[in-house]
Amino acid sequence: MLTRTRWPYPRILAHRGAGVLAPENTLVALRLAATFGFAGVEVDARLAADDTPVLMHDADVDRTTDGTGEVRGLDAGTLRKLDAGVWFGNEFAGEHVPTLDAAAALCRGQGQWMNVEIKAEPGDEAEAGRHIASEVARLWSGTSPPPLLSSFSEAVLQAAAHGAPELPRGLLFDDLPDDWIDRARALRCASVHCRHDTLTAERIRAAHEAGLGVLAYTVNDTERALALFGAGVDALVTDELREIRADFLALYSPAPR
Ligand code: G3P
Ligand code: MG
Repeated sequence: MLTRTRWPYPRILAHRGAGVLAPENTLVALRLAATFGFAGVEVDARLAADDTPVLMHDADVDRTTDGTGEVRGLDAGTLRKLDAGVWFGNEFAGEHVPTLDAAAALCRGQGQWMNVEIKAEPGDEAEAGRHIASEVARLWSGTSPPPLLSSFSEAVLQAAAHGAPELPRGLLFDDLPDDWIDRARALRCASVHCRHDTLTAERIRAAHEAGLGVLAYTVNDTERALALFGAGVDALVTDELREIRADFLALYSPAPR
């Protein structure tokens, strides 16, 4: 059974802001997710050269902007001059790489909860984890429930626990190692975030018995979404905002477990 204490957050999250409907990790994406009724979003955050946290999935800006270079090699002012929309569609021209600060102001204003996935390059995990976590704590001060930090990197989450011990943490997994639950517990995580095809009802139950919430990513098929909710998953991240809608759980009844 889902308990409010294990997952007090929205159960369907828009991936990278608005999935495939808008340029990823931009403010227009976050606004569109709100228009579609999404109370929760997942974004990727990493540090610019001047330590400003910005929303960006990749280590470099080449795929999602009109610029080139590593995010960690470009300061916030330089990033601000890049176009982060036109690669996706001309109608998004003029969209910027948002700072975490701007994203927080927007999401707080539109009542949207956020899962901030922290990305970091090898060797930079401690700095990124500590700094982004403390910035999230500052930007969302006083909000309930607080944002959920997540990362594939245990070093990032270790540092995040020092930077903002009060914020919940989720450990991301691609494949599931045998000791996945022990690893999450060692980091005092609130949740495990698993590639959806690694999850079974038995594994979800095991995580729940360890007191961990379970998020599945990235689920773009309605049948799979129903099966996962039926198997007990607490939340999922989706690109398919038109199919796996914000009111998906109200419209469909997951099959009994
Ligand atoms: O947080 C879930 C998901 O976003 C992890 O994968 O590569 O899309 O950041 P990625
Ligand atoms: Mg992500």
